[in-house]
Amino acid sequence: MTGVVWSRGGALVPLPYNQRTCYCGQVGPRLIGQSLVLVGWVAVRRDHGGMVFIDLRDREGVVQLKFNPETDPKAHEAAGRLRTEFCIAVRGEVARRPAEMVNPNLASGEVEVNVHELDILSACETPKFEVGDAPIANEELRLKYRYLDLRRPPMQRALIMRHRITKLMRDYFDEHGFVEIETPFLTRSTPEGARDFLVPSRIHPGQFYALPQSPQLFKQLLMMSGFDRYVQIVRCFRDEDARGDRQPEFTQLDLEMSFIQAEDVQAIIEGLLVRIMKLAHNVDVPTPFPRMSYQQAMLDYGIDRPDTRYDLLIRDVSDVVRKTDFRVFRAPLEAGGVCRAIRVPGGAEMSQREIEKDLTEFVKGSGAGGLPYLKVVTGSGHADATGPGVRLQTGVAKFFSPELTQELERALELQPGDAVFFAADTEDNVCRYLSRLREEIARRRGLVPQGKWNFLWVVGFPMFLFNPEDRRHYAVHHPFTAPLDEDVHWLEKDPTRCRAKAYDVVLNGIELGGGSVRIHRTDVQQQVFRILNMSEAEQQARFGFLLEALRHGPPPHGGIALGLDRLVMLMIGADNIREAIAFPKVTKTFICPLTEAPSPVSQEQLDELSLRIALPQKK
Ligand code: AMO
Ligand code: AMP
Repeated sequence: MTGVVWSRGGALVPLPYNQRTCYCGQVGPRLIGQSLVLVGWVAVRRDHGGMVFIDLRDREGVVQLKFNPETDPKAHEAAGRLRTEFCIAVRGEVARRPAEMVNPNLASGEVEVNVHELDILSACETPKFEVGDAPIANEELRLKYRYLDLRRPPMQRALIMRHRITKLMRDYFDEHGFVEIETPFLTRSTPEGARDFLVPSRIHPGQFYALPQSPQLFKQLLMMSGFDRYVQIVRCFRDEDARGDRQPEFTQLDLEMSFIQAEDVQAIIEGLLVRIMKLAHNVDVPTPFPRMSYQQAMLDYGIDRPDTRYDLLIRDVSDVVRKTDFRVFRAPLEAGGVCRAIRVPGGAEMSQREIEKDLTEFVKGSGAGGLPYLKVVTGSGHADATGPGVRLQTGVAKFFSPELTQELERALELQPGDAVFFAADTEDNVCRYLSRLREEIARRRGLVPQGKWNFLWVVGFPMFLFNPEDRRHYAVHHPFTAPLDEDVHWLEKDPTRCRAKAYDVVLNGIELGGGSVRIHRTDVQQQVFRILNMSEAEQQARFGFLLEALRHGPPPHGGIALGLDRLVMLMIGADNIREAIAFPKVTKTFICPLTEAPSPVSQEQLDELSLRIALPQKK
């Protein structure tokens, strides 16, 4: 049935689909009267009073085809066999639509194409979902039939935008004197903190390559080679714990520069992001981006990537609630923890169900024991030395005496109609509960403004975090990050007080990228390794080549990497990174439903690699 041309004269001459005149989305009034060859997929088919109408779709848009039984009976008859997603070629003439048929929602909506010849290039089974603009709930199905999913206009727009962004990046960095250099995928373990994906070596039985978590060490070596300004759009591989918006393979815009300070790297990134915002949203973003210290971010937002588009700031109320009898507040404070609160203006209108069920379940999901809260109503009306201006109600209000009510009123600047939510626990936990709660409340109450683009640098990260469980220091960024000059002395005395020359760029609460000025002195690098509990032998085994390179005239250098998938996600207005990736893995399970990877391999392959599979016993 396919490959046959139903033409006006009935002659079986194949339609020259390789001579397409233009894309469907490009057909417009300026082509009226012209004969065109178009190719594409059947988006919609309608029969109207003998006429058959087809919406023909390609990557640039849709155009309406008209099959008239009077003028082109053969083509019309053949059009009767068309079903959605058939791939076809047509020849026809562009005509103006009757005024009442104009479709203002379509770029080509003023015209239609009167088809004289139709070539059905291939048929399509009934698609498992509608190949249209509408969202599709079942993501696994989308990924299994990704080739159909990618035919959908929003996905085509997404991938074309991704292309435009990477093209812009390459042009921008070329203009700024950067050289794109590829670094190996088959390498050895890099220290970005996730687990490595390993590749067994056939030639060296029992030995493994690691796929890079980032090109970190190679780009530093390139600085030592004098390349000065390196850039790469590069795949990174991390065997992450399946949480949040992460993919096991993702793409970074990775760069490194010599003879710079942190501000120079930041300025390069700002210039780039300004251009990308212009391209994607036609928005002029002011520079320099605001800077916020890590400490401030953790205090006010409970997180190192604050979403500053709305307020709901977190406030410390430890000193107030310490005086209550409420064990939920007091016990953590006595154990050295903190109590912090979020004041929600107008939150008193939230129902008991919303607070005690929905929000309480929500914070319990991050590990909190519950959600202490209270509501604020109009009080005596005269705040003075003897009494508060507001009254507290419900929840934990009963634990606040008039004096404490007044103290809380001052600490939080309470207003009638507010709700206040508390968390008391270790500082880390309080930050975690309240940062998530803050986002959830903002979402529920519609406080997140659309069309706002809050870029932000978070700076002054600590070099190390101390884990009391195993009593070890861990690098907050990575172990090659340089300490702030004024904090170097803390390396000896108290490493946790030493801040790093590290910076993260955040957009609307999402970490777009992170980087740092690097250590370029062997002694400092070894000192940092020692703080990280790395023995001399381990340092040599893992990073001997770096330490050696540092003895060969390294320039001062630093850099950054942006998550390209996250950036594209934000630029297309999607809410997960899979929308910005052609063939992503399913979240959490990290399988590819399309190819069914990962999969078992044959015994021969295992034998060649000298591998034996030892599956854990089924419980
Ligand atoms: P970092 O580990 O912060 O830094 O990574 C940089 C950026 O990469 C993105 N990203 C991810 N995106 C999707 N899925 C993931 N699993 C994932 N992991 C990270 C984030 C993140 O901000 N070598 C250093 C950079 C440097 O110091 O120059 C590095 O890799 O957007
Ligand atoms: P209760 O004293 O159990 O009536 O709790 C009063 C308030 O404190 C409720 O809003 C609970 O959600 C909250 N709450 C109870 N136990 C805890 C806890 N262990 N941690 C945090 N909040 C709690």
